[in-house]
Amino acid sequence: MVSNGKAISFSAFKNGSLRGSADIPGDKSISHRALIIGSLAFGETKISGLLDSFDVMSTAAAMRLLGAQIYKHYDGDWVVSGVGVGGFVSPEDIIDCGNSGTSVRLIMGATSTCDISVTFTGDSSLRTRPMKRIVEPLREFGANIYGRNKNTLPLTLVGAKNPLPIDYNSPHSSAQVKSAVLLAGLNAPGETSFIESTLTRDHSERMLSAFGAEIKTEKTNEGWVTVLKGHPELKAQNLRINRDPSSAAFIVCAALLVNDSDVVVPNINLNPTRNGIYETLVEMGADITFENQREDNGEPIADIRARYSPEMKGVDVPENRAPSMIDEYPILACVAACATGRTKFFGVSELRVKESDRISSIATGLRKCGVSVFDDKDSMEIFGNGAGSVSGGVLCESNLDHRVAMSFLCLGLASKNKITVDDVRSIDTSFPSFFTLMTKLGAEMRREPL
Ligand code: S3P
Repeated sequence: MVSNGKAISFSAFKNGSLRGSADIPGDKSISHRALIIGSLAFGETKISGLLDSFDVMSTAAAMRLLGAQIYKHYDGDWVVSGVGVGGFVSPEDIIDCGNSGTSVRLIMGATSTCDISVTFTGDSSLRTRPMKRIVEPLREFGANIYGRNKNTLPLTLVGAKNPLPIDYNSPHSSAQVKSAVLLAGLNAPGETSFIESTLTRDHSERMLSAFGAEIKTEKTNEGWVTVLKGHPELKAQNLRINRDPSSAAFIVCAALLVNDSDVVVPNINLNPTRNGIYETLVEMGADITFENQREDNGEPIADIRARYSPEMKGVDVPENRAPSMIDEYPILACVAACATGRTKFFGVSELRVKESDRISSIATGLRKCGVSVFDDKDSMEIFGNGAGSVSGGVLCESNLDHRVAMSFLCLGLASKNKITVDDVRSIDTSFPSFFTLMTKLGAEMRREPL
């Protein structure tokens, strides 16, 4: 989206129904991992379906600075020539991860056990996000990490010369922390283990295993334990990345909210560590079906069909479901505003440290739209008054957060009056085709004059 550095404001209007099929782009989490793990393998990894978004391109640029060769083939596939485990070189410049927490946390992990130095930074949102959660375990491997007081970017990492494997019991339910530790463990001798109380997305584990690493996960009395054997020889693969369930959720939820809609999103990743949003929508009474369920490239997928669902009810969303839908609370809150009764999200304090404080961004916008919302440190309650009840007619702030921007635009399609989002540029970090796909289905979304 061309902006000359200025905010781009968009409005969404109530219009006709949403109908048709939408080709959602590739999964963001898996795209980052394909580039990083491909860069750590020997040989040429070919990737089809890679998400071509700002966040993923931040990872590609970082991998190039660290020595891998990455290019886009004329047929749209990507090729990565890796340097092998431990083969990263000190980059000639700082690594700027833009808005992407996944890039910085996973790449700090992957570089922490290499004998190199790297300085990481990011945009104004990423520079406020907590990094202590990875700094602590990476120091245990022997890395030195320097920065200002509070473990926020910019940070300079001096990788361990003689890394030691670690056993890490994580206080955070975070796939980014888990992946950072596992990627660090690749270049440490012996076994690295990671313990988490709830299983978070396991794309790193699945992909490392596909590239030839010895890695296994077991549920024990202590929690979910993943053990990785260090110094594997990772071999290049041909990968096909299936479609992102987090991006698909915007289209699915918009279809549930807009009168007379009927939409299909094919080939969506339905890994159980990612499908909490769909489980919750079904509990709310949404008319959703999962068609053509199958396995593709080591991940379960399905075509999701969603139809207008005016009878949805509020539900309780338990804390242990949070990791499997952590990015979907903003759009679920908008669905809850159009359901009948109270929806309560339990144990969602992690939302406070995402691209924005998502509890605050969503609560503020919903209240402006006329919806009752209560929030505290780690929970949020939304009181819905049923389909078509949201008044809208307001300007909502995205706070540089792509998922907040898309959520309010989807809500605008089902509100009495238009909803305007102050700045939508962040949508390009994860879902650059959002406006094209939405308007193709029949949504009315228009750029506001500057
Ligand atoms: C991600 C993990 C999640 C998620 C993020 C992507 C990943 O973050 O919010 O968008 O690809 O590992 P946390 O691990 O911090 O919960």
